[in-house]
Amino acid sequence: MSQPVGKLLLFGATGDLSQRMLIPSLFGLHADGLLPDGLTITGTARSEQSDADFRAFAGKALDTYLQPEQKDAAVIAAFLDRLFYQPLDASTLEGFDHLAAKIGDISGGLAIFLSTAPWLFGPTIKGLQSAGLTGENVRIGLEKPLGKDLASSRETNDIVAQAFPEERTFRIDHYLGKETVQNILALRFGNSLFEPIWNARGIDHVQITISETVGLEGRAGYYDEVGALRDMVQNHMLQLLALIAMEPPARFDGTSIRDEKVKVLRSLRPITAAEAPNLTVTGQYGDGAVTGKIVESYDGELEKDSRTETFVAIKAHVDSWRWQGVPFYLRTGKRMPERRSEIVVQFKPVPHSIFAERGGMLQPNTLVIRLQPEEYVRLLVMAKQPGLDREGVRLREVPLNLSLDTEFAGTRRRIAYERLLLDLIEGDPTLFVRRDEVEAQWEWIDGIRAGWEANDVKPKGYASGSWGPSASVALTERDGVTWHE
Ligand code: BG6
Repeated sequence: MSQPVGKLLLFGATGDLSQRMLIPSLFGLHADGLLPDGLTITGTARSEQSDADFRAFAGKALDTYLQPEQKDAAVIAAFLDRLFYQPLDASTLEGFDHLAAKIGDISGGLAIFLSTAPWLFGPTIKGLQSAGLTGENVRIGLEKPLGKDLASSRETNDIVAQAFPEERTFRIDHYLGKETVQNILALRFGNSLFEPIWNARGIDHVQITISETVGLEGRAGYYDEVGALRDMVQNHMLQLLALIAMEPPARFDGTSIRDEKVKVLRSLRPITAAEAPNLTVTGQYGDGAVTGKIVESYDGELEKDSRTETFVAIKAHVDSWRWQGVPFYLRTGKRMPERRSEIVVQFKPVPHSIFAERGGMLQPNTLVIRLQPEEYVRLLVMAKQPGLDREGVRLREVPLNLSLDTEFAGTRRRIAYERLLLDLIEGDPTLFVRRDEVEAQWEWIDGIRAGWEANDVKPKGYASGSWGPSASVALTERDGVTWHE
Protein backbone atom coordinates (compact mmCIF):
# COMPACT_ATOMS: atom_id res chain seq x y z
CA MET A 1 0.00 0.00 0.00
CA SER A 2 2.36 2.70 -1.09
CA GLN A 3 -0.48 5.10 -1.69
CA PRO A 4 -0.71 8.53 -0.11
CA VAL A 5 -3.20 8.53 2.74
CA GLY A 6 -6.07 10.97 3.05
CA LYS A 7 -5.82 11.54 6.78
CA LEU A 8 -3.15 12.11 9.37
CA LEU A 9 -3.54 11.58 13.12
CA LEU A 10 -0.99 13.10 15.48
CA PHE A 11 -0.66 11.81 19.03
CA GLY A 12 1.15 14.25 21.31
CA ALA A 13 -0.13 17.10 19.15
CA THR A 14 0.32 19.78 21.79
CA GLY A 15 3.85 18.67 22.76
CA ASP A 16 7.19 20.28 22.18
CA LEU A 17 8.10 18.19 19.09
CA SER A 18 4.78 19.01 17.54
CA GLN A 19 5.24 22.75 18.01
CA ARG A 20 8.87 22.94 16.97
CA MET A 21 9.01 20.34 14.21
CA LEU A 22 5.82 18.60 13.17
CA ILE A 23 3.48 21.52 12.61
CA PRO A 24 6.11 23.67 10.83
CA SER A 25 7.10 20.64 8.71
CA LEU A 26 3.52 19.88 7.70
CA PHE A 27 3.08 23.53 6.86
CA GLY A 28 6.22 23.45 4.68
CA LEU A 29 4.81 20.48 2.75
CA HIS A 30 1.42 22.17 2.43
CA ALA A 31 2.96 25.42 1.16
CA ASP A 32 4.91 23.52 -1.51
CA GLY A 33 1.77 21.69 -2.65
CA LEU A 34 3.15 18.33 -1.50
CA LEU A 35 0.34 17.26 0.82
CA PRO A 36 -2.44 15.27 -0.84
CA ASP A 37 -5.44 17.48 -1.65
CA GLY A 38 -7.97 17.27 1.10
CA LEU A 39 -5.60 15.64 3.61
CA THR A 40 -6.88 16.44 7.09
CA ILE A 41 -4.68 16.50 10.17
CA THR A 42 -6.30 15.56 13.47
CA GLY A 43 -4.32 16.32 16.58
CA THR A 44 -4.94 14.59 19.85
CA ALA A 45 -3.60 15.00 23.39
CA ARG A 46 -5.04 15.12 26.88
CA SER A 47 -5.88 18.79 27.10
CA GLU A 48 -9.45 19.87 26.40
CA GLN A 49 -9.36 22.04 23.30
CA SER A 50 -11.61 22.84 20.39
CA ASP A 51 -10.56 22.78 16.74
CA ALA A 52 -10.32 26.55 16.95
CA ASP A 53 -8.02 26.38 19.99
CA PHE A 54 -5.76 23.88 18.24
CA ARG A 55 -5.63 26.05 15.13
CA ALA A 56 -4.65 29.01 17.30
CA PHE A 57 -1.96 26.88 18.96
CA ALA A 58 -0.64 25.76 15.56
CA GLY A 59 -0.76 29.35 14.27
CA LYS A 60 1.42 30.42 17.17
CA ALA A 61 3.86 27.58 16.54
CA LEU A 62 4.14 28.68 12.89
CA ASP A 63 4.66 32.26 13.92
CA THR A 64 7.51 31.21 16.20
CA TYR A 65 9.22 28.59 14.09
CA LEU A 66 8.74 29.43 10.40
CA GLN A 67 11.37 31.30 8.44
CA PRO A 68 10.22 34.89 7.78
CA GLU A 69 9.94 34.25 4.02
CA GLN A 70 7.57 31.33 4.66
CA LYS A 71 5.02 33.47 6.49
CA ASP A 72 2.25 34.04 3.97
CA ALA A 73 -1.05 34.76 5.76
CA ALA A 74 -3.28 33.22 3.07
CA VAL A 75 -1.21 30.05 2.86
CA ILE A 76 -1.14 29.76 6.65
CA ALA A 77 -4.93 30.18 6.83
CA ALA A 78 -5.45 27.46 4.22
CA PHE A 79 -3.11 25.16 6.15
CA LEU A 80 -4.88 25.78 9.46
CA ASP A 81 -8.17 24.78 7.81
CA ARG A 82 -6.77 21.25 7.51
CA LEU A 83 -6.39 20.95 11.28
CA PHE A 84 -8.83 19.35 13.75
CA TYR A 85 -8.51 18.35 17.36
CA GLN A 86 -9.94 15.68 19.62
CA PRO A 87 -9.02 15.48 23.32
CA LEU A 88 -8.12 11.99 24.48
CA ASP A 89 -6.76 10.26 27.53
CA ALA A 90 -4.89 7.52 25.69
CA SER A 91 -4.39 5.49 28.86
CA THR A 92 -8.01 4.30 28.82
CA LEU A 93 -10.10 2.80 26.05
CA GLU A 94 -12.89 5.31 26.48
CA GLY A 95 -12.51 8.14 24.10
CA PHE A 96 -11.04 6.21 21.16
CA ASP A 97 -14.53 5.84 19.64
CA HIS A 98 -14.95 9.59 19.74
CA LEU A 99 -11.55 9.96 18.15
CA ALA A 100 -12.54 7.57 15.35
CA ALA A 101 -15.81 9.45 14.87
CA LYS A 102 -13.94 12.74 14.66
CA ILE A 103 -11.59 11.38 12.00
CA GLY A 104 -14.46 9.86 10.04
CA ASP A 105 -14.08 7.75 6.94
CA ILE A 106 -10.58 6.26 6.65
CA SER A 107 -11.12 4.29 3.47
CA GLY A 108 -8.72 6.71 1.77
CA GLY A 109 -5.96 5.67 4.21
CA LEU A 110 -4.78 6.95 7.58
CA ALA A 111 -1.26 7.64 8.81
CA ILE A 112 -0.77 7.84 12.57
CA PHE A 113 2.21 9.55 14.19
CA LEU A 114 2.89 8.52 17.77
CA SER A 115 5.00 10.93 19.75
CA THR A 116 3.98 10.19 23.30
CA ALA A 117 5.58 8.75 26.42
CA PRO A 118 6.57 5.14 25.62
CA TRP A 119 4.40 3.73 28.43
CA LEU A 120 1.37 5.01 26.50
CA PHE A 121 2.21 2.94 23.40
CA GLY A 122 0.47 -0.19 24.72
CA PRO A 123 -2.83 1.44 25.73
CA THR A 124 -2.80 3.55 22.56
CA ILE A 125 -2.43 0.54 20.31
CA LYS A 126 -5.25 -1.22 22.17
CA GLY A 127 -7.43 1.86 21.90
CA LEU A 128 -6.76 2.18 18.17
CA GLN A 129 -7.63 -1.49 17.71
CA SER A 130 -10.85 -1.16 19.67
CA ALA A 131 -11.93 1.81 17.57
CA GLY A 132 -11.13 0.17 14.21
CA LEU A 133 -8.17 2.44 13.51
CA THR A 134 -5.64 -0.27 12.68
CA GLY A 135 -6.84 -1.84 9.44
CA GLU A 136 -4.96 -2.53 6.21
CA ASN A 137 -5.00 1.06 5.09
CA VAL A 138 -3.56 2.45 8.33
CA ARG A 139 0.17 2.92 8.92
CA ILE A 140 1.95 4.12 12.04
CA GLY A 141 5.02 6.30 12.61
CA LEU A 142 6.84 5.90 15.93
CA GLU A 143 8.96 8.57 17.54
CA LYS A 144 11.77 7.65 19.93
CA PRO A 145 12.46 6.55 22.58
CA LEU A 146 11.65 3.03 21.45
CA GLY A 147 12.78 1.29 24.59
CA LYS A 148 15.68 1.71 27.00
CA ASP A 149 17.42 -1.52 26.09
CA LEU A 150 16.96 -4.55 23.87
CA ALA A 151 14.35 -6.17 26.14
CA SER A 152 12.11 -3.10 26.47
CA SER A 153 12.53 -2.26 22.79
CA ARG A 154 11.36 -5.80 21.91
CA GLU A 155 8.39 -5.33 24.22
CA THR A 156 7.41 -2.08 22.52
CA ASN A 157 7.90 -3.58 19.07
CA ASP A 158 5.79 -6.59 20.03
CA ILE A 159 2.98 -4.36 21.26
CA VAL A 160 2.99 -2.38 18.03
CA ALA A 161 3.28 -5.56 15.95
CA GLN A 162 0.00 -6.86 17.41
CA ALA A 163 -1.78 -4.23 15.36
CA PHE A 164 0.68 -3.13 12.67
CA PRO A 165 2.82 -5.48 10.57
CA GLU A 166 6.40 -4.38 9.97
CA GLU A 167 5.65 -2.98 6.50
CA ARG A 168 3.16 -0.55 8.04
CA THR A 169 5.43 0.45 10.95
CA PHE A 170 7.64 3.49 10.36
CA ARG A 171 10.28 4.03 13.08
CA ILE A 172 11.71 7.50 13.00
CA ASP A 173 15.34 8.44 13.35
CA HIS A 174 15.24 12.09 12.41
CA TYR A 175 18.89 12.04 11.31
CA LEU A 176 17.80 9.98 8.29
CA GLY A 177 15.62 12.91 7.21
CA LYS A 178 18.60 15.26 7.05
CA GLU A 179 19.61 16.15 3.52
CA THR A 180 23.36 15.67 4.01
CA VAL A 181 22.81 12.27 5.60
CA GLN A 182 21.03 11.15 2.44
CA ASN A 183 23.88 12.71 0.54
CA ILE A 184 26.20 10.05 1.96
CA LEU A 185 24.45 7.60 -0.35
CA ALA A 186 24.78 9.95 -3.33
CA LEU A 187 28.45 10.56 -2.58
CA ARG A 188 29.30 6.88 -2.17
CA PHE A 189 27.12 5.29 -4.81
CA GLY A 190 26.68 8.11 -7.32
CA ASN A 191 30.41 8.57 -7.90
CA SER A 192 32.99 6.09 -9.07
CA LEU A 193 35.78 7.92 -7.28
CA PHE A 194 35.43 6.78 -3.70
CA GLU A 195 34.15 3.22 -3.69
CA PRO A 196 37.35 1.48 -4.89
CA ILE A 197 39.24 2.82 -1.85
CA TRP A 198 36.31 2.79 0.59
CA ASN A 199 37.69 -0.11 2.62
CA ALA A 200 40.48 -1.18 4.92
CA ARG A 201 43.06 -0.88 2.11
CA GLY A 202 42.21 2.75 1.45
CA ILE A 203 40.87 4.07 4.75
CA ASP A 204 42.85 4.49 7.95
CA HIS A 205 39.98 5.36 10.26
CA VAL A 206 36.61 7.11 10.47
CA GLN A 207 35.48 9.70 13.03
CA ILE A 208 31.88 10.59 13.73
CA THR A 209 31.21 13.60 15.95
CA ILE A 210 27.88 15.02 17.07
CA SER A 211 28.57 17.87 19.48
CA GLU A 212 25.91 20.11 20.93
CA THR A 213 26.12 23.35 22.87
CA VAL A 214 22.80 22.82 24.62
CA GLY A 215 22.35 21.21 28.02
CA LEU A 216 19.19 19.63 29.35
CA GLU A 217 16.70 21.94 27.60
CA GLY A 218 13.96 21.17 30.12
CA ARG A 219 14.15 17.44 29.36
CA ALA A 220 15.77 16.40 32.63
CA GLY A 221 13.23 13.68 33.39
CA TYR A 222 13.88 11.92 30.10
CA TYR A 223 17.58 12.62 29.70
CA ASP A 224 18.74 11.63 33.16
CA GLU A 225 17.19 8.20 32.62
CA VAL A 226 18.97 7.57 29.33
CA GLY A 227 22.26 9.50 28.96
CA ALA A 228 24.27 10.22 25.84
CA LEU A 229 24.89 6.59 24.84
CA ARG A 230 21.21 5.76 24.53
CA ASP A 231 20.05 9.23 23.49
CA MET A 232 22.47 9.70 20.59
CA VAL A 233 24.74 6.71 19.90
CA GLN A 234 22.11 3.97 19.89
CA ASN A 235 20.21 5.68 17.09
CA HIS A 236 21.67 8.64 15.18
CA MET A 237 25.36 7.77 15.40
CA LEU A 238 24.94 4.09 14.58
CA GLN A 239 22.74 4.99 11.63
CA LEU A 240 25.47 7.32 10.34
CA LEU A 241 28.05 4.59 10.87
CA ALA A 242 25.87 2.09 9.01
CA LEU A 243 25.48 4.42 6.02
CA ILE A 244 29.23 4.99 5.87
CA ALA A 245 30.12 1.31 6.28
CA MET A 246 27.41 -0.49 4.31
CA GLU A 247 27.96 -2.42 1.09
CA PRO A 248 26.41 -1.00 -2.08
CA PRO A 249 22.71 -1.90 -1.94
CA ALA A 250 21.20 -3.78 -4.87
CA ARG A 251 18.58 -1.06 -5.40
CA PHE A 252 17.55 2.25 -3.95
CA ASP A 253 14.63 0.97 -1.96
CA GLY A 254 13.68 0.34 1.65
CA THR A 255 14.44 -3.36 1.64
CA SER A 256 17.81 -3.22 -0.10
CA ILE A 257 19.15 -0.28 1.89
CA ARG A 258 17.98 -1.60 5.23
CA ASP A 259 19.30 -5.10 4.43
CA GLU A 260 22.76 -3.59 3.98
CA LYS A 261 22.56 -1.36 7.05
CA VAL A 262 21.52 -4.20 9.32
CA LYS A 263 24.50 -6.28 8.16
CA VAL A 264 26.81 -3.52 9.38
CA LEU A 265 24.98 -3.18 12.69
CA ARG A 266 25.25 -6.90 13.25
CA SER A 267 28.96 -6.77 12.42
CA LEU A 268 29.74 -4.25 15.15
CA ARG A 269 32.34 -5.93 17.32
CA PRO A 270 30.86 -6.36 20.81
CA ILE A 271 32.73 -4.36 23.44
CA THR A 272 33.41 -6.76 26.28
CA ALA A 273 33.38 -5.81 29.96
CA ALA A 274 37.17 -6.18 30.06
CA GLU A 275 37.59 -3.77 27.13
CA ALA A 276 34.90 -1.24 28.04
CA PRO A 277 37.17 0.99 30.16
CA ASN A 278 39.73 1.17 27.31
CA LEU A 279 37.42 1.49 24.34
CA THR A 280 34.90 3.95 25.81
CA VAL A 281 35.05 7.25 27.67
CA THR A 282 32.15 8.83 29.51
CA GLY A 283 31.87 12.35 30.82
CA GLN A 284 29.48 14.72 32.51
CA TYR A 285 29.60 18.48 32.07
CA GLY A 286 30.53 20.72 34.96
CA ASP A 287 30.30 24.49 35.26
CA GLY A 288 31.82 26.45 32.44
CA ALA A 289 31.11 28.77 29.55
CA VAL A 290 29.64 27.85 26.18
CA THR A 291 29.86 30.32 23.31
CA GLY A 292 30.61 33.09 25.78
CA LYS A 293 27.79 32.34 28.21
CA ILE A 294 28.35 31.06 31.74
CA VAL A 295 26.45 27.81 32.25
CA GLU A 296 25.73 25.55 35.17
CA SER A 297 26.93 21.99 35.69
CA TYR A 298 24.69 19.05 34.81
CA ASP A 299 24.09 18.24 38.49
CA GLY A 300 23.33 21.91 39.15
CA GLU A 301 20.81 22.02 36.31
CA LEU A 302 19.30 18.77 37.54
CA GLU A 303 19.37 19.86 41.19
CA LYS A 304 20.72 16.49 42.32
CA ASP A 305 23.78 14.30 41.95
CA SER A 306 23.64 12.03 38.97
CA ARG A 307 25.88 9.48 37.28
CA THR A 308 24.31 9.94 33.86
CA GLU A 309 26.82 10.57 31.08
CA THR A 310 26.38 13.67 28.93
CA PHE A 311 29.42 12.77 26.81
CA VAL A 312 30.57 9.52 25.34
CA ALA A 313 33.43 8.55 23.08
CA ILE A 314 33.86 5.05 21.69
CA LYS A 315 36.38 3.23 19.58
CA ALA A 316 34.31 0.81 17.53
CA HIS A 317 35.10 -1.83 14.93
CA VAL A 318 33.04 -3.38 12.18
CA ASP A 319 34.04 -7.00 11.80
CA SER A 320 33.76 -7.54 8.08
CA TRP A 321 36.12 -8.13 5.17
CA ARG A 322 35.76 -4.52 4.09
CA TRP A 323 36.52 -2.94 7.45
CA GLN A 324 38.98 -5.25 9.16
CA GLY A 325 41.34 -3.19 11.32
CA VAL A 326 39.67 0.19 10.64
CA PRO A 327 38.64 1.98 13.84
CA PHE A 328 35.45 4.02 13.90
CA TYR A 329 35.81 6.69 16.59
CA LEU A 330 32.47 8.05 17.79
CA ARG A 331 31.95 10.97 20.13
CA THR A 332 28.96 12.98 21.19
CA GLY A 333 28.30 15.36 24.02
CA LYS A 334 26.25 18.20 25.37
CA ARG A 335 27.68 21.59 26.39
CA MET A 336 30.53 21.33 23.92
CA PRO A 337 32.20 24.41 22.42
CA GLU A 338 30.17 24.27 19.21
CA ARG A 339 27.25 22.54 17.54
CA ARG A 340 28.65 20.24 14.92
CA SER A 341 27.69 16.97 13.29
CA GLU A 342 30.29 15.56 10.97
CA ILE A 343 31.86 12.45 9.60
CA VAL A 344 35.57 12.45 8.89
CA VAL A 345 37.05 9.73 6.72
CA GLN A 346 40.81 9.65 6.91
CA PHE A 347 42.46 7.80 4.04
CA LYS A 348 45.73 5.88 4.25
CA PRO A 349 48.98 7.75 3.58
CA VAL A 350 50.69 7.31 0.21
CA PRO A 351 52.79 4.11 0.19
CA HIS A 352 56.00 6.03 -0.55
CA SER A 353 56.65 9.77 -0.54
CA ILE A 354 58.88 11.07 -3.29
CA PHE A 355 58.90 14.46 -1.57
CA ALA A 356 60.43 13.39 1.72
CA GLU A 357 64.08 13.88 0.80
CA ARG A 358 63.27 17.34 -0.60
CA GLY A 359 61.69 18.28 2.73
CA GLY A 360 58.06 17.94 1.59
CA MET A 361 55.70 16.72 4.28
CA LEU A 362 52.52 14.88 3.34
CA GLN A 363 49.24 14.62 5.19
CA PRO A 364 46.93 11.75 4.34
CA ASN A 365 43.79 12.75 2.42
CA THR A 366 40.74 13.43 4.50
CA LEU A 367 37.10 13.60 3.52
CA VAL A 368 34.92 15.72 5.78
CA ILE A 369 31.16 15.35 5.51
CA ARG A 370 29.64 18.16 7.56
CA LEU A 371 25.95 17.65 8.31
CA GLN A 372 25.37 20.73 10.44
CA PRO A 373 25.35 23.60 11.09
CA GLU A 374 26.80 24.05 7.59
CA GLU A 375 26.34 21.38 4.95
CA TYR A 376 29.41 20.56 2.96
CA VAL A 377 31.65 17.84 1.67
CA ARG A 378 35.33 18.75 1.78
CA LEU A 379 38.20 16.66 0.46
CA LEU A 380 41.57 17.67 1.83
CA VAL A 381 44.32 17.07 -0.72
CA MET A 382 48.01 17.94 -0.89
CA ALA A 383 49.12 20.75 -3.20
CA LYS A 384 52.41 22.47 -3.83
CA GLN A 385 52.69 25.94 -2.44
CA PRO A 386 53.61 28.50 -5.10
CA GLY A 387 57.29 29.36 -5.18
CA LEU A 388 60.66 28.34 -6.56
CA ASP A 389 61.28 25.76 -3.85
CA ARG A 390 64.95 26.65 -3.45
CA GLU A 391 64.81 25.46 0.13
CA GLY A 392 62.89 22.29 -0.49
CA VAL A 393 59.44 21.37 -1.72
CA ARG A 394 56.68 23.03 0.23
CA LEU A 395 53.42 21.15 0.19
CA ARG A 396 50.21 22.10 1.90
CA GLU A 397 46.85 20.53 2.56
CA VAL A 398 44.12 22.39 0.66
CA PRO A 399 40.38 21.73 0.52
CA LEU A 400 38.41 20.71 -2.52
CA ASN A 401 35.20 22.21 -1.33
CA LEU A 402 31.65 21.29 -2.16
CA SER A 403 29.43 23.60 -0.18
CA LEU A 404 25.93 22.23 -0.46
CA ASP A 405 24.61 25.47 1.06
CA THR A 406 26.13 27.51 -1.78
CA GLU A 407 25.69 25.01 -4.59
CA PHE A 408 21.99 24.63 -3.87
CA ALA A 409 21.48 28.15 -2.54
CA GLY A 410 18.11 28.59 -4.27
CA THR A 411 16.62 25.59 -2.48
CA ARG A 412 15.00 25.99 0.91
CA ARG A 413 16.65 23.83 3.57
CA ARG A 414 13.96 21.58 4.86
CA ILE A 415 13.49 20.35 8.40
CA ALA A 416 14.31 16.62 8.59
CA TYR A 417 10.72 15.93 9.62
CA GLU A 418 9.33 17.35 6.37
CA ARG A 419 10.89 14.54 4.44
CA LEU A 420 9.95 11.91 7.00
CA LEU A 421 6.33 13.04 7.40
CA LEU A 422 5.89 13.10 3.63
CA ASP A 423 7.36 9.61 3.35
CA LEU A 424 5.00 8.43 6.10
CA ILE A 425 2.03 9.98 4.30
CA GLU A 426 3.13 8.46 0.99
CA GLY A 427 4.18 5.12 2.47
CA ASP A 428 7.87 5.06 1.53
CA PRO A 429 9.80 3.16 4.26
CA THR A 430 13.33 3.73 2.90
CA LEU A 431 14.35 6.33 5.50
CA PHE A 432 12.75 4.59 8.47
CA VAL A 433 14.46 2.14 10.77
CA ARG A 434 13.46 -1.50 10.55
CA ARG A 435 12.93 -3.60 13.65
CA ASP A 436 15.99 -5.76 13.05
CA GLU A 437 18.15 -2.63 12.82
CA VAL A 438 16.85 -1.19 16.09
CA GLU A 439 17.41 -4.48 17.82
CA ALA A 440 20.95 -4.88 16.49
CA GLN A 441 21.66 -1.33 17.68
CA TRP A 442 20.37 -2.10 21.17
CA GLU A 443 22.29 -5.33 21.39
CA TRP A 444 25.59 -3.53 20.88
CA ILE A 445 24.65 -0.69 23.22
CA ASP A 446 23.49 -3.07 25.97
CA GLY A 447 26.90 -4.75 25.82
CA ILE A 448 28.63 -1.42 26.46
CA ARG A 449 26.32 -0.59 29.35
CA ALA A 450 26.91 -4.01 30.89
CA GLY A 451 30.65 -3.30 30.67
CA TRP A 452 30.20 0.03 32.43
CA GLU A 453 28.21 -1.61 35.17
CA ALA A 454 30.69 -4.43 35.62
CA ASN A 455 33.51 -1.90 35.99
CA ASP A 456 31.46 0.60 37.99
CA VAL A 457 32.34 3.27 35.43
CA LYS A 458 31.54 6.84 36.54
CA PRO A 459 31.51 9.68 34.04
CA LYS A 460 34.56 11.94 34.23
CA GLY A 461 33.91 15.62 34.74
CA TYR A 462 34.57 18.07 31.90
CA ALA A 463 34.17 21.81 31.83
CA SER A 464 31.16 23.03 29.89
CA GLY A 465 32.51 24.52 26.68
CA SER A 466 35.33 21.98 26.35
CA TRP A 467 35.58 18.96 24.04
CA GLY A 468 34.94 16.49 26.86
CA PRO A 469 37.23 14.70 29.31
CA SER A 470 40.92 14.46 28.43
CA ALA A 471 40.52 10.68 28.30
CA SER A 472 38.64 11.23 25.04
CA VAL A 473 41.78 12.75 23.52
CA ALA A 474 43.83 9.85 24.87
CA LEU A 475 41.39 7.36 23.28
CA THR A 476 42.51 8.39 19.80
CA GLU A 477 46.03 9.65 20.55
CA ARG A 478 46.99 6.15 21.69
CA ASP A 479 46.47 5.14 18.07
CA GLY A 480 48.27 8.20 16.75
CA VAL A 481 44.97 9.78 15.71
CA THR A 482 43.76 13.30 16.55
CA TRP A 483 40.10 14.29 16.66
CA HIS A 484 39.38 16.48 13.66
CA GLU A 485 39.05 20.17 14.58
C1 BG6 B 1 17.56 13.95 19.73
C2 BG6 B 1 18.09 13.85 21.13
O1 BG6 B 1 17.26 12.69 19.22
O2 BG6 B 1 18.52 14.57 18.90
C3 BG6 B 1 18.49 15.22 21.67
O3 BG6 B 1 17.12 13.28 21.97
C4 BG6 B 1 19.43 15.91 20.70
O4 BG6 B 1 19.08 15.10 22.95
C5 BG6 B 1 18.87 15.89 19.29
O5 BG6 B 1 19.58 17.25 21.14
C6 BG6 B 1 19.89 16.40 18.30
O6 BG6 B 1 19.28 16.57 17.04
P1 BG6 B 1 19.83 17.63 16.00
O7 BG6 B 1 19.00 17.42 14.80
O8 BG6 B 1 19.64 18.98 16.64
O9 BG6 B 1 21.28 17.32 15.80
